[in-house]
Amino acid sequence: MMSGSDQAYYDQEFVPSPVAHGQWMEEIRSYFSNYASRLNLALESTEGKIAELGAGSCGLSLCLSELPNARNIYAVDISLSRMQRMLEFSASILGGKIDMVQTIACDFNGVLPFSDGELDAVVFDAALHHSRSIWGTLTECHRVLRDGGVLIAQREAYLSPLRAASQIKRLLSTPEIAANVSENIYLREQYLYYLAVNGFDAEFIPHSIGWLKKLLKVFNGSLFSDGVLYARKKKARQSMAF
Ligand SMILES: C[S@@+](CC[C@H](N)C(=O)[O-])C[C@H]1O[C@@H](n2cnc3c(N)ncnc32)[C@H](O)[C@@H]1O
Repeated sequence: MMSGSDQAYYDQEFVPSPVAHGQWMEEIRSYFSNYASRLNLALESTEGKIAELGAGSCGLSLCLSELPNARNIYAVDISLSRMQRMLEFSASILGGKIDMVQTIACDFNGVLPFSDGELDAVVFDAALHHSRSIWGTLTECHRVLRDGGVLIAQREAYLSPLRAASQIKRLLSTPEIAANVSENIYLREQYLYYLAVNGFDAEFIPHSIGWLKKLLKVFNGSLFSDGVLYARKKKARQSMAF
């Protein structure tokens, strides 16, 4: 795996202006509010252990810290320095319980720093598509989640069946590709497929921000895809006793 360039890129990423960061945090909160009560219900009677993978600014971790049934939030990222630069900045905008958020340096292309079935939820915000192997990362998520545990991916960049050629052309000209950073773009159906084959029951919850996309919501899934992937780890199959 060649994740060294990924870490170097994110270590050096600039800190945005307060206005730009404020808009970014509001976007994270808007997607989160779409499933927050459902996730809170799923965490009832659990240890409330949640990991955000590719946490970066830790905006989603801070939102999660406000859930009544959340107890421990692990913000995991390949760039520890990025999280350290951004956590307080994000909290100054979003609020949240900063002391509940524990930052951990880890490359999610490898083994995650949790034991089997330790976590009740794993979440991603604009991060799952950075995996160099979505199969490998989802297999690890499956391992660290308890049976029935929740996996959520919000703000993924989806390929549109109608605009795929131009989207891929644009991706090729991004600074991330120039810096050999792992960037991918998948169809919504591909995410559902990868989740299904890695042992999850998954659904797509449409959610758009901005008046134009709200107006065009009947095209969500064709012209564009905006929403949240909400999945649950299927119970392990019992082996047959003979
Ligand atoms: C587009 S940013 C979004 C992150 C976050 N939601 C935020 O608001 O900053 C992608 C994040 O994924 C992290 N990342 C990329 N590749 C990673 C990897 N292999 N393992 C762990 N984190 C990774 C980056 O460091 C970055 O913080």
